Amino acid sequence: MNRHIGVFDSGVGGLTVVKQLLESYPHESIVYFGDTARIPYGDKSPETIIRYSIENAKLLLKKNIKMLVVACNTASAYALKPLKSFDIPVVGVIEPGAKKAVEVTRNGRIAVLGTRGTIQSGEYQKTIHRLLPSVMIQAIACPLFVPLVEEHFFNHPATRLIVQEYLAPIKKEKVDTVLLGCTHYPFLRAILEEEMGPHVTIVDSASTCADEVGMILKQNQIEASKDCIGSHQYFVSDDPEKFKRLSLNLLGQTLSVSLEMPLS
Ligand code: DGL
Repeated sequence: MNRHIGVFDSGVGGLTVVKQLLESYPHESIVYFGDTARIPYGDKSPETIIRYSIENAKLLLKKNIKMLVVACNTASAYALKPLKSFDIPVVGVIEPGAKKAVEVTRNGRIAVLGTRGTIQSGEYQKTIHRLLPSVMIQAIACPLFVPLVEEHFFNHPATRLIVQEYLAPIKKEKVDTVLLGCTHYPFLRAILEEEMGPHVTIVDSASTCADEVGMILKQNQIEASKDCIGSHQYFVSDDPEKFKRLSLNLLGQTLSVSLEMPLS
């Protein structure tokens, strides 16, 4: 089965999930859409996030994808249900991220960092509680992280100050696990690890999301055959050059990126 796996995010963040998919499933082909013209999603209303997500999904469905990965926590928090009405398997990042955090914590004290929308939706808090009812969760909205990532400020003094500000309440709570509940945040992993220190584990949803993708491909018998070599396509709704620069940092290769508009 040579059809592509469709993946979308509001910008470059979903590439943290793509990276894991490329490593885990080299035979699979991926088509990625970053809605860079309308980023950030994190501060938009639920109605707008749902509308954008459906438009992104339609763009990818037109490319004849066999499954959809919603590599955006904000879109996963609000739009997963409506997206599941499409006729292909759909995977989000919240359940996989929650599973990972619950797997890793030793003292049952977990912090979740996310966009304002993701944190306000309460989806992470609900999902983690369902998986581990005795857990203590501290959920912190970090609205300044996405623009810092999109501006390539991975190791900038301004980023450190903002990280310190957001992490201060977490440090007091003695959490042992910090879940990056936004696919942009792994770009800031190094600085977050430095600030939290060696006793805290930073996790994200990329690896568990890739595991779930693998399981669904298998269940639905839509895996690419082992003699396929994955071919990958990348589309954005604005400024392909900026996207290329950011993706080079994460994937270590220059992508060919084309401009395309979501479908209403
Ligand atoms: N990367 C996205 C997420 O995982 C969204 C960032 C944004 O557009 O605000 O939530």
